[in-house]
Amino acid sequence: MQFDFDSMTGLERFEFLTGTIVPRPIALITTIDAHGRLNAAPYSFFNIVGHDPAVVAVGVLPHSEGRLKDTGLNILDTQEFVVNLVSEELAEAMNTTCIDAPPGFDELSLTDLKTAPSTHVRPARILSAPAAFECRVHSSISLGPNQAIVIGRILTAHIDDRFVADFEKRSIDTPAMKLIGGMHGAKWYTRTSDQFGMDRPTWAARQKKGTPA
Ligand SMILES: Cc1cc2nc3c(=O)[nH]c(=O)nc-3n(C[C@H](O)[C@H](O)[C@H](O)COP(=O)(O)O)c2cc1C
Repeated sequence: MQFDFDSMTGLERFEFLTGTIVPRPIALITTIDAHGRLNAAPYSFFNIVGHDPAVVAVGVLPHSEGRLKDTGLNILDTQEFVVNLVSEELAEAMNTTCIDAPPGFDELSLTDLKTAPSTHVRPARILSAPAAFECRVHSSISLGPNQAIVIGRILTAHIDDRFVADFEKRSIDTPAMKLIGGMHGAKWYTRTSDQFGMDRPTWAARQKKGTPA
């Protein structure tokens, strides 16, 4: 079967894309509005898109009320945001923060999550997040009314000491973070505890073995 995107409704495209492009890392994004009020919401149209400069991209969809979501508005207004990663431990609180609360409401107040001041940006970070990235807007792309891709340059990152495998080498114990990912539908998630490894091939090694190309 083939899906022709031009003949699909927006909802059908949303369901197809979120049902196939999985798992998606989840950014629990903290921002402040123009009055300094904290906001938090999860975003899984999210990923790193470069390391030099270190940049992340976030897709902010239109709010059902026909406005930009608070996270998008706050980021564009203040140029700052924090990406807090989500562990199994934080899953329920993350889900709570996706509530469609009115602008200016601090969704973290519905959870037991504590914040800590950021060092380079004004929005606070979530203390119990395994890792948090303080970001400043690098650029943004409008995708139509009330919809944007925000690209943030990472200024600094915080990681819980428990997840640093080697402080000198700055290496991370990724499995220990127990991060979760977004899956299909509005309610399905995945753990990241089922891993397998593969060495990447190189052309030079292949030539040495005499394997025909
Ligand atoms: C796991 C998860 C991932 C989400 N990802 C996105 C996303 O990538 N883009 C988006 O616009 N909304 C996403 N949402 C919905 C927003 O979190 C929701 O609309 C929220 O109310 C927005 O809050 P805000 O207006 O405070 O930014 C996601 C929700 C959940 C639970």
